[in-house]
Amino acid sequence: MTNRTIRVSASILCADFARLGDEIKKCEDAGVDMLHVDVMDGHFVPNLSIGAVIVETIRPRTKLPIDVHLMVDNPSMLLDLFLDAGADIVSIHAECYGPLREGCRQAHQFPKEVDFIEADRLRADIVRIKSRGKKAFVAINPGTPLCLQSVLEDLDGILIMSVNPGFAKQKFMPLALPKLQELARIFEGDIAVDGGVNALTAPEAVKAGANVLVTASYFFGSENPRQLVKGLKSLAGS
Ligand code: DX5
Ligand code: ZN
Repeated sequence: MTNRTIRVSASILCADFARLGDEIKKCEDAGVDMLHVDVMDGHFVPNLSIGAVIVETIRPRTKLPIDVHLMVDNPSMLLDLFLDAGADIVSIHAECYGPLREGCRQAHQFPKEVDFIEADRLRADIVRIKSRGKKAFVAINPGTPLCLQSVLEDLDGILIMSVNPGFAKQKFMPLALPKLQELARIFEGDIAVDGGVNALTAPEAVKAGANVLVTASYFFGSENPRQLVKGLKSLAGS
């Protein structure tokens, strides 16, 4: 149960990249609150997507905050690049800051998962993002437990993955729900959920505690994106 305002972050992963300017306008007209940019390096996830050049391209075209989701092995190396390009929120993955579980250490083994993080190393990158006046989120894969107690106070938000990252159009994993519920009890920052968000799963995610809904295929596949955003936002207080 949340009484917080619900914000919608449209992931451009499902946008038509040949008409990116129009797609950004579509997000604005539909009333989304931010643009989610999924960055994949082919190492942290089994897919490649887009880089800082797209953030740079979008930045002068919109006032919407740009929310960069870094699905990369070495986020520390790329932080400044994305902050310079115009990111307002940067999500870095917990799995990049702790010993990977056996079974996902090799290059071709996915999803990447950890049982705990090295807090000092993660905190250093959180501080770097915040020292630029930007918001720092940590993302957690479905199989990684909530292992962020030691950095909770440093964070602006947490991004709970409800699919194994790498692709849009996957099915929402209900194992995200207890994490959202636990966070709603212990964390005052933004609680975002990413993956498989749609008309059926969004109410469950909001009821469990999410206040930021990330959507790619549901939003970009919609005939009436304005109505869709209105519907998602109306879940506040449910
Ligand atoms: C998955 C990405 C998600 C994805 C969501 O790796 O992080 O942001 O774009 O896509 P849908 O909303 O289609 O599940
Ligand atoms: Zn994402």
